[in-house]
Amino acid sequence: MSHVRLIDIDKYYGSYHALKSVNLTVDKGEFIVMVGPSGCGKSTTLKSIAGLEAISSGEIWINGRNVTREEPGDRGIAMVFQSYALYPHMTVAENMGFGLKMAKRPQAEIDVAVKRAAEILRITDQLDKRPKELSGGQRQRVAIGRAITRSPEVFLFDEPLSNLDAALRTQMRVELTTLHQQLGSTMIYVTHDQVEAMTMASRIVVFNKGVIEQQGAPLELYHNPVNQFVAGFLGAPRINFVAATLVNLRDGVAEVALEGASTVHVPVADTAGLTNGAKLTLGVRPEALKIGDVPDAALSFDAQVRLVEQLGRETVLYVDAGPLAAIGSESGTHNFTVQLGTAAPYAAGQSIKVSARAADLYLFAPDGKAVNRPKLIAASL
Ligand SMILES: Nc1ncnc2c1ncn2[C@@H]1O[C@H](COP(=O)(O)OP(=O)(O)O)[C@@H](O)[C@H]1O
Ligand SMILES: [Mg+2]
Repeated sequence: MSHVRLIDIDKYYGSYHALKSVNLTVDKGEFIVMVGPSGCGKSTTLKSIAGLEAISSGEIWINGRNVTREEPGDRGIAMVFQSYALYPHMTVAENMGFGLKMAKRPQAEIDVAVKRAAEILRITDQLDKRPKELSGGQRQRVAIGRAITRSPEVFLFDEPLSNLDAALRTQMRVELTTLHQQLGSTMIYVTHDQVEAMTMASRIVVFNKGVIEQQGAPLELYHNPVNQFVAGFLGAPRINFVAATLVNLRDGVAEVALEGASTVHVPVADTAGLTNGAKLTLGVRPEALKIGDVPDAALSFDAQVRLVEQLGRETVLYVDAGPLAAIGSESGTHNFTVQLGTAAPYAAGQSIKVSARAADLYLFAPDGKAVNRPKLIAASL
């Protein structure tokens, strides 16, 4: 049975259409991660589930109950925000027990719940402190603890780790995943962090402009994005895009012309609606680009190294391919990004040859939809 269900949710802020016919079904125990650009409606979706925002139309069901018109406190959810929102004058224990106290539970029950949550989060020795005596990570644990004490049906997290430094974020990420395994609760988690999304989610939901673009297992979305938006959103460094013109379509192979490179043959499955001359976009992920000659290379071009980032266990190159210009990212660069899985001694100014295999090439139609690739190739990824 679905645990949380959003049915045709629309949300207007005045005349602004923030959520457009959102449908989402979450099973019990799932860890759903919502991602998308700033302003796409992630927080609005969470607040709608929590009952902190009234939706304009549609229904919200939690655990088999239509909660659309229920108060937040009656919905069986607990929400953790980016800002910890702890009460400064209360101790950690009082902060964690506050929800139960408001619900007028007996003190003995509150004490047991707080003790248990503190043990899970390993903050038992902090219970008598005030928030200002705690580090950022400890404060966030208290905020999570406050959610745990209420034994909610569903946990909602809105970018809970964004205020923490990188090392602590990594640690808390692992702790939250462990917490999910321990509690087995349903969790819906919003983040803008690629690594959190890919590693924590049982299912990723990609939002854009108030619409769900795609949802599925992290690697499924990564390898088989349904459109150019999802391909461009998931993956860091970002996928390279280049303009391509369809010159021939035959026997499951699309032949496309790129400016400043030889034509490229891309295996395709469903080519409905594509005609010669169509303006397509070719996509290739940075880690799929190889340096030098690759056997069976479908794409290959000469380039000059502009910038090298040595990251220890990997090397990222930004290369200029002359007339074959990558379609500019937000930073407006036309360079291709190449990601090598090793330390590699490249230097700015060096001339190199860059190649990719056909199986690593994506094609997108003029409307942004992915041109389906043959199943055989998808499976070999
Ligand atoms: N209370 C509000 N009043 C008016 N507009 C809002 C309000 N809250 C959010 N919005 C707008 O709705 C859109 C979605 O916001 P939000 O859900 O917070 O996005 P996200 O969390 O994905 O960054 C944004 O364009 C935002 O400006
Ligand atoms: Mg938000």
